[in-house]
Amino acid sequence: MSFDWSTRYRTGETPWEKGEPHPELPFLLVEHRGLIEEAGSILVPGCGFGHDAHLIHATAKGRLIGLDLAQEAIDQAEARYSGEGLSWGVGDLFEWQGSYELVFEHTCFCAIPVGRRADYVAKMAELIPKGGHLLGIFFLNPDHEGEEGPPFGVTAAELSEFFGRDFELIWSKPPSKTYEGREGEGRERSMLWQRRR
Ligand SMILES: C[S@@+](CC[C@H](N)C(=O)[O-])C[C@H]1O[C@@H](n2cnc3c(N)ncnc32)[C@H](O)[C@@H]1O
Repeated sequence: MSFDWSTRYRTGETPWEKGEPHPELPFLLVEHRGLIEEAGSILVPGCGFGHDAHLIHATAKGRLIGLDLAQEAIDQAEARYSGEGLSWGVGDLFEWQGSYELVFEHTCFCAIPVGRRADYVAKMAELIPKGGHLLGIFFLNPDHEGEEGPPFGVTAAELSEFFGRDFELIWSKPPSKTYEGREGEGRERSMLWQRRR
């Protein structure tokens, strides 16, 4: 199934867009501060309006790029957030090139077509050098009512199956804070993966 993200942004049908960073992100920035500060280059794929990317950039010392397929999302990110070392890109993550010591993702893996999950992990393994990290707040169970994704549900076991091919799980924890309306046990999980050496 393909999904027209640009149309959703144009029509404002964007239930994932909350107008602020994920409430758990400040905790992750403290918990993984060293990692974020040490990363010379950070990629935030599927960044939407850039709230998370902008907050991470405030802690990071290296350069950070927020990437999204939808020009409409990046227009909003550019209008809201700027700073030295912070940039925005429009593009398909599957075609993206570069080397990033840290990738942060939030509701990106669950937004791509289910059949491309292995491709997603392979792409991350290409973009992240050995020893580099992928930190994510993964949406496990979108719990839609009468609606098919995205986001598409995924279990923690499936995440381990896919990411485990190229990454080692370093840390994992259910978020202690989330957006209003996204509460509920087992709906999200924060995970830190390290690219196998
Ligand atoms: C569910 S939204 C989440 C946006 C943002 N992370 C947030 O939480 O507000 C998924 C985002 O991924 C983007 N996206 C989907 N497929 C993509 C791809 N192949 N490459 C880059 N971005 C993609 C969409 O345009 C959309 O902005």
